[in-house]
Amino acid sequence: VSDEVRELLASRIHDVPDYPKPGVMFKDITPLLADPKAFSVLTDALAGICEARGATKVVGLEARGFILAAPVAVRAGVGFVPVRKAGKLPGATLSQGYDLEYGSAEIEVHAEDLGEGDRVLVIDDVLATGGTAEASLTLIRRAGAGIAGAAVLLELGFLGGRRRLEQALAGAPLEAL
Ligand code: PRP
Repeated sequence: VSDEVRELLASRIHDVPDYPKPGVMFKDITPLLADPKAFSVLTDALAGICEARGATKVVGLEARGFILAAPVAVRAGVGFVPVRKAGKLPGATLSQGYDLEYGSAEIEVHAEDLGEGDRVLVIDDVLATGGTAEASLTLIRRAGAGIAGAAVLLELGFLGGRRRLEQALAGAPLEAL
């Protein structure tokens, strides 16, 4: 994306110190969502990545990834598939656990939403440690689909998420706007 777009997007992400706990700088994307120009520019940029990678589906990661990925699916003319936190999907699911800093988490996808003909772009707002995205890529592969890449609005580089995703991406690109 151009410097102009990058600056617009960056200006609409607000830093909130000590949230949700002391020492953490929270990246709040709600000002960006509330600005129709910025949200539209973001959607265009992500839809462009979707088309460039030849994706047939976008996967959004709960919850903020849903907000970004759904309009991208409509704009790019591809399907939207939610990866949800465990226990929220009613049909037959595939589940994947992953480690957090303290404890663990589990995410799920409807098995029938992804298949062999699919090339999937994973979309989320923030790449932090990469645990959520890594588990999502594993789920997509287990569903039999191919990986077109991953795209995030914001990458917190100092947390090493990009390195953690290397194996799961297997050469597919990770783009951070
Ligand atoms: C945040 C963010 C990513 C994930 C990144 O979601 O939206 O999905 O954490 O962290 P990681 O790279 O260390 O896995 P969160 O779990 O806060 O869920 P929410 O979007 O429902 O608030």
